[in-house]
Amino acid sequence: GLAHTDTIHDSAIKQVQGRADYTDDLTEPHGLLHACLGLSQCAHGRIVRMDLDAVRAAPGVIDVMTATDIPGDNDVSANGKHDDPIFADGVVLFWGQPVFAVIAETRDQARRAAHKARIEYEALPHALDPIAARDAGMGYVTEPLTLRRGDASAAMEAAPRRIKGRFGIGGQDHFYLEGQIAMAVPGEDDDVVINVSTQHPSEVQHVVAHVLGVPNHSVVVNVRRMGGGFGGKETQMNLFAAVAAMAARKWGRAVKIRPDRDDDMTATGKRHDFVVDYEVGFDDDGRILAVEGDWYARCGFSSDLSGPVTDRALFHADNAYYYPDVRVSSHPMKTNTVSNTAFRGFGGPQGVIVAERITEEIAYALGRDPLEIRKLNLYQNGQLTPYHQEVNDQILPRIFQEIEASSDYHARRQAVLDWNAKGGVIRKGIALTPVKFGISFTATWFNQAGSLIHIYSDGSIALNHGGTEMGQGLNTKVAQVVAEAFQCDISRIKITRTTTEKVPNTSATAASSGTDLNGMAALDAAEQIKARLIDFVAERWQAPREDVKFVPGHIRVGDRDIPWAEVINAAYMARIHLSAAGFYKTPKIHWDRATGRGRPFYYYAYGAAVSEVSVDTLTGEYVIDRADVIHDVGRSLNPAIDKGQVEGAFVQGAGWLTCEELWWDDKGRLRTHAPSTYKIPLASDKPRIFNVKLADWSENSERTIKRSKAVGEPPFMLGISVFEAINMAVASFGDYREPARLDAPATPERVLMAIEAHRQEP
Ligand code: MTE
Ligand code: MOS
Repeated sequence: GLAHTDTIHDSAIKQVQGRADYTDDLTEPHGLLHACLGLSQCAHGRIVRMDLDAVRAAPGVIDVMTATDIPGDNDVSANGKHDDPIFADGVVLFWGQPVFAVIAETRDQARRAAHKARIEYEALPHALDPIAARDAGMGYVTEPLTLRRGDASAAMEAAPRRIKGRFGIGGQDHFYLEGQIAMAVPGEDDDVVINVSTQHPSEVQHVVAHVLGVPNHSVVVNVRRMGGGFGGKETQMNLFAAVAAMAARKWGRAVKIRPDRDDDMTATGKRHDFVVDYEVGFDDDGRILAVEGDWYARCGFSSDLSGPVTDRALFHADNAYYYPDVRVSSHPMKTNTVSNTAFRGFGGPQGVIVAERITEEIAYALGRDPLEIRKLNLYQNGQLTPYHQEVNDQILPRIFQEIEASSDYHARRQAVLDWNAKGGVIRKGIALTPVKFGISFTATWFNQAGSLIHIYSDGSIALNHGGTEMGQGLNTKVAQVVAEAFQCDISRIKITRTTTEKVPNTSATAASSGTDLNGMAALDAAEQIKARLIDFVAERWQAPREDVKFVPGHIRVGDRDIPWAEVINAAYMARIHLSAAGFYKTPKIHWDRATGRGRPFYYYAYGAAVSEVSVDTLTGEYVIDRADVIHDVGRSLNPAIDKGQVEGAFVQGAGWLTCEELWWDDKGRLRTHAPSTYKIPLASDKPRIFNVKLADWSENSERTIKRSKAVGEPPFMLGISVFEAINMAVASFGDYREPARLDAPATPERVLMAIEAHRQEP
C-alpha cells in the first residue's frame, strides 16, 4: 500500500457489504428527538399571519421553533454577509424557505405535524431568473467582478469577423445519494457534539457556535464519511446542524434532522444556472482576437458562495484558449429562488462551456472542424490569462495528439459526416473538447491544512487530517502517503473520522484540493516522527543517522533490519514522542480581486475527451455511442481511484448538459424535486464504449504531493464533449452552415424542438 499504486478505497468493501457507517447509521442515543422543517409556500411575501397551533397540538410534538427562538444569531452564512437566516423572519424570499422547525418524538410525527401549519402571505413581486431579476432591478447578492487584459472593445471593432450570441446554461441538483443529515447530542458541561454529513466541519462548528451564542470550543463536529457531497455539503448543511444543535441544547436530548428528498431538493442550493451574452472577434484563419462576455447568474436570495462561484466562471471563461484582448464580467443576480451554491467545478464549467461555444461559432462560420479552431487557439507557455497569470505548464498539444490517434478522431468524424449526408432518421455528432482547470482556492487563506498522527506503542497508527471523505478516496490517498513515508503496511493505519477536536480551523474539502493539502500536511507530521525515530535508532544501535533507513515493514540500521513494531515499542520505552501535528500551506499563490491580477492557481490540470452520439430525430433522444478520455492527474497517487473520479465526473458532467433539468413554475415553485421529475444519468446512459486513460507520462511541474495533480473536478468539464456532439448532430439539418446553439441542458425535448425548427427552415 504505497504511493502510486491501485490501493483499494478504504470504504469499498464496507460499502458493498452495507457496513460503511454514515451519520444515519450511528447508534441513536436514548431519548432521541426528530426535527422537520416547515417550508414557505410563496416566492416572495410578507408573513401576515402564522398559525402554528395545530402543529404544536399534533401527536408527539415537543416544540416548534421559529426565528424568535434562536439563542444567538438567526444566520448560518459563513461569509460575513449575514444574509442567510435559519428561519424566515417576517419576509420569505423563496418558495421552500424554512419558516419553522417541529421537534417531535418520531420522524414521522415531526413530518406530519409540519404540514399542519397555516401561514398567510402578502405576496410581493418576485423574479426567478437572472434576466428577469436584472430587468426588475433586483441587484447583486455580492460584488461582481470584471477581468480584463488589453482593450477588448477596440480589438473587437478592428476584428475582421465578429459573432455575438446568448447562451442559457442550466443548473444542477447535487443528488448526493445520502441526503442532508445532522444529529446533535448534548455533550458534557453544556457542550454540543454534532455528527453531520459535511464537507466543512470547521464551518459547521463556527456557524453553530454563532447561532448558539457560545465560543467555538463548545461545539464539536464529527464526520466519518459522506454518501456524496459534490459541493452540496460545503455550506448547505449549516442550517440542518444549527436546527439540531439548537433543539438539543434547549431540550437536553439528542436531536436528528434528516429531510426527505423533496424537502432536500427544494430547500438547498444547487449549481448556478447562467445566461451568458458573448461576443468574439476573429480573423479568417479562425484565430481569436477579442472576447467580451457577461455572465448573469441565478444566485438565489442570498450570497452564500455565489461570489467565488461567479468569479470562477470568469477564471475559466477562456478554458484553454488565449484571448489577446478580453473583457469578461460577472453579474451575480439576486433572485427569489433557493440560494445557489458550490457544485463540482464551482462555476468553472459555466465558463468553460462558453469558450467551447465560441470555438464552435468560429468553426461553423469558417466551415472548419471545431478541433482545428481549438488547436489554433490553445495557450502557449508564456501567454497570460485574463487574470494575468502566466501559463507555463501547458500539455494539451500532447494530449490532443494522443487522443486524436487513440480515438481515431479524424476517420470517425469523416464517417459521421458521411452518415449524416445520407439524411436518415438517426443523425450523429462527434466532438473533441479539452479542459484546463486551475487548482487552488481563489480565497488564498483556504489553501492550508493540518494533520495529526499518533503511533501507538504496538506500532499501529491513527491518522487524522482536516479533509473529509465523500467517496472521492481522499482518506485512502492520504494513508498511502503516510504508509510510504513509514514504509509500513497500509493495514497498520487507521483513518479516523474528521473532527474539529483533532485538527482546528480546517478548510472545506473542496476545490479538488483535498489530497494536495491534506496529503502534504500528513507527510509533514510523518516526517517529524520519522526524524525522531531516526535519532533514536541511530543512538540506540550505535550507527550514523545516514545509515538508518525505512524499508518495508522494518527500519534498517547498517545491515540489521528491525521490525517496525519492535522499533516503536523500544522508542516508546525510551520516551520518544510518537505523535505529531502537521501543517501545510500552498506556496506561490496570490490574488488581488480589486485589480483582477495575480496567480490564483498553483498549477493547471488538463484533459480532453472525444464523444460520439446518435440522435433519434423523431424523438430527440440520444445515446453516447463512445467516449474516449485522456486526463492529466500528474503522477497519480492511485490510478484506480483517479480513473474512478474521471469516469464519475465525466458522467456527471454529461448529466448536467443532457438529462438533468431544474424547472420552476411561474409562482417560483421548483417542480423537479424528486427522481420522478429530475433525471440523473443511469448506468444505462453511460457511453456504450468508454475508454478512460490517465496521461501517465505527466508529472506536476510544481512540488505537489508526490508530483500528483488534483482530480475531483476538472474531468467534469469533459462532459461538454457530449453536448457539443449533440449540437453537431442537430446542426447537420442546416448542413452545418450554423451551429445548433442549443441551450443546456440538451434534453430530448429541447433537441427535438431544435430539429423541428431546422426542418422548417427553407
Ligand atoms: N467524488 C465522489 N465520489 N463524491 C463526491 O461528493 N465531490 C467532488 C469530487 N469528487 C465528490 C467526488 C467535488 S465537488 C470535489 S471539490 C472533490 O471531489 C473534493 O475532494 P478532493 O478535494 O479530495 O478531490
Ligand atoms: Mo467541490 S464544488 O469544490 O465541493
